[in-house]
Amino acid sequence: MNPFKYGCVVDGDNFCARAEAERQLRRFAESGQNVVVQGARRMGKSSLVRKAISDMRGESMLYIDLYYIGTMADLCGRVMAGIARMNDKMSFVRKVMNLVSHLRPTLSFSTTDGSPILSVDARAADAPGSLQTVMEMLAKVAADGKACIVFDEFQDILRLPDANRILAEMRGSIQLQPDVPYFFLGSMRHDMMSIFSSPKSPFFKSAAAFEVDAIRQTDFAAFIVRRFSYGHRKISRGMASRIIEFADSVSGDVQELCAALWETTETDATITESDIPDALEHIFARERKGFEKSIMRLTPTQVAVLKGLAAADTAKIYSSQFLESVRIASTGTVKKAVKRLEADELVYEWQRSWRFVDPFFREWVRRKI
Ligand SMILES: Nc1ncnc2c1ncn2[C@@H]1O[C@H](COP(=O)(O)OP(=O)(O)OP(=O)(O)O)[C@@H](O)[C@H]1O
Ligand SMILES: [Mg+2]
Repeated sequence: MNPFKYGCVVDGDNFCARAEAERQLRRFAESGQNVVVQGARRMGKSSLVRKAISDMRGESMLYIDLYYIGTMADLCGRVMAGIARMNDKMSFVRKVMNLVSHLRPTLSFSTTDGSPILSVDARAADAPGSLQTVMEMLAKVAADGKACIVFDEFQDILRLPDANRILAEMRGSIQLQPDVPYFFLGSMRHDMMSIFSSPKSPFFKSAAAFEVDAIRQTDFAAFIVRRFSYGHRKISRGMASRIIEFADSVSGDVQELCAALWETTETDATITESDIPDALEHIFARERKGFEKSIMRLTPTQVAVLKGLAAADTAKIYSSQFLESVRIASTGTVKKAVKRLEADELVYEWQRSWRFVDPFFREWVRRKI
């Protein structure tokens, strides 16, 4: 079994301890403080918050994932799903269904693990007052069960047609529960800012800000050495640090590269720099179609700028050196191209230069395009 996990929430031996961050989050929860948790994609927000709360004595977690919701029924359904996950005793699930009976809830069971799935009738969810009913139920369940409420991918609320009114209603309900800690997680920084930092938003300044940064390099390197050893491979601390830097210190990408290195080396091998190209090929084989699709959507100018960004270590895109390297005369043209790459979520601005969202895509562009 591959000792590295990525693309999912991690816990137990797959979780590298982040003692200080865990402590800070627990302190917020203990004082009933609402928190907005931000950080780059795959940095480890969901895993960190879940770990911090699950380690708290006497505190349970009500975890609600709003990823890609599109309708009011989705929103109500996800809240109910979170509640059912918190306590899947049938007596409890039935009580919850009774509390929201006019939303005509239905119960089914997951084919994978048999856990209960609650959903609500779409038309009933669209009727006025449905969100209030669900939020009141949420408040009651959280108070009874001494729970922290975690909304993951919270920015996806903005996908709902009537987002501002919905946010206002949620905010109204949350304000009435000063003792229940709410955690709002999100990775789309711009959208999260518009919810929590825009004076026009009902959630303006409603939560303390917490940033999930990279895992401390010495801790992460020690974790990597330990996991390779568990998987019958050897690696030095220095090489582990090299992997972390290669993947821009993004937790999920570091684990993905480690997983590929493990996959492409033999039992008892010592991992070195020369193993990286094979591991990358392994990742490219899996991701190639998606990478090609990203490129096909771009104009030749945009591809040239993308290649320029991939080639440079830290790209100062308005320098004459950069313009020469991509053979474009005007900074305006480069600016427009970069904006498009940013809109496609291929690159983002970081400390006044540009970085690839996916370091493996950067390597693919470097090596194949
Ligand atoms: N503490 C950790 N120790 C080791 N690896 C971690 C840790 N936290 C996260 N990871 C790695 O990062 C991956 C993504 O973690 P997680 O889903 O928690 O991040 P996220 O920031 O919530 O991501 P997303 O932006 O997709 O919501 C995990 O699958 C794992 O590979
Ligand atoms: Mg997440």
